[in-house]
Amino acid sequence: MRLYVTGGTGLVGSNIIRLARRQNIEIIASQYGPEPEWQVDYQLDPLNFADHEAIRASIAKYKPDAVIHCAAILDQLFMFENRALCWSIMVDGTRALAQACREVGARLVFVSSDWVFDGQVDLVDETSPPNPVNFYGVMKMASERDLGALDGLDYAVGRLAGIYGLNYAAPSLARKDNGLGFDFSVYAIYRLAAGLPAEVWTGPKVNDVAHPTLASDCADMLLRLARHDGTGCRVDTGSSIFHCCGSEAISRIDLARQIASAFEADPALIMPTRTDESALDQMRHIGIPYRTRLSTDKTAKALGRRAFNVKEGLTAFRQEWDEFWD
Ligand SMILES: NC(=O)c1ccc[n+]([C@@H]2O[C@H](COP(=O)([O-])OP(=O)(O)OC[C@H]3O[C@@H](n4cnc5c(N)ncnc54)[C@H](OP(=O)(O)O)[C@@H]3O)[C@@H](O)[C@H]2O)c1
Repeated sequence: MRLYVTGGTGLVGSNIIRLARRQNIEIIASQYGPEPEWQVDYQLDPLNFADHEAIRASIAKYKPDAVIHCAAILDQLFMFENRALCWSIMVDGTRALAQACREVGARLVFVSSDWVFDGQVDLVDETSPPNPVNFYGVMKMASERDLGALDGLDYAVGRLAGIYGLNYAAPSLARKDNGLGFDFSVYAIYRLAAGLPAEVWTGPKVNDVAHPTLASDCADMLLRLARHDGTGCRVDTGSSIFHCCGSEAISRIDLARQIASAFEADPALIMPTRTDESALDQMRHIGIPYRTRLSTDKTAKALGRRAFNVKEGLTAFRQEWDEFWD
């Protein structure tokens, strides 16, 4: 298989490339920011998703069998303040990619998010109506709808959640700061593994309950989706949506405790703290889903495997971590 990965220097993209290399898949990866820090033994193609003609040209040039589209902006504040630019990159860019895939007959796996939901419904599945509470979720939902409207496109949507792991392509870029709208698990892992206190914000505007998802685990699911015939989850909405996230939802405080246990850190380093006031002020117009619980049953059945629960994911990650830093 010839696989094209967008956002190959990102957390998820680098894990897909790492896994695909082991499966002897031919890889092309788009590159936007700095060059990857690891040895590149695959094709790199510089690409900005704001340039829609360049997207079409790149797909036409490489004619992949499948494309996994990870590239996205994740900074909630930046998106809120630069809406037109981000819409062009995230929504128009995804549509241009989908059109290009259709032209060359490539299967497209679009990486979406649990944040298409508002976090107010106890349990949602692939057929539940989305109700995003921020611009990021709106853009992901818009792209999911756009793909469904493109006749003849072979595609799947893989919704991820709460990603943690190692960015193998650019370890120095790992997001290690505590912040609203960023990966709490990555912050907690880096702090606790280093024996440093980790604040767990407990006040308003936190995604308190979510599905932590190991990047290498969802990379496997996305690769399965790239090969999938797309029929497994064509449920009553006629959609092709799959929940590729960890199989267990957990609160931030319980997650921090499990991270401490996996990394043999002192649980006293976990510090429940009221959400930072300046972060709250900056994010005052931006909604954050409170409790995102997704059913993963249909996806597990369709892809032939269940994603890790929290303990399994952290155990697997501890091994990755030790091997990487040894
Ligand atoms: N992280 C999570 O918890 C989470 C949860 C749910 C869904 N997701 C989704 O999962 C996917 C991957 O996320 P991630 O955590 O791997 O994020 P990430 O590490 O920030 O990776 C995002 C990638 O997008 C690239 N990119 C940004 N702007 C671009 C542009 N204008 N043109 C081309 N490429 C651009 C980045 O390139 P550079 O590195 O070169 O800047 C980076 O490689 C995204 O679609 C995200 O929405 C993530």
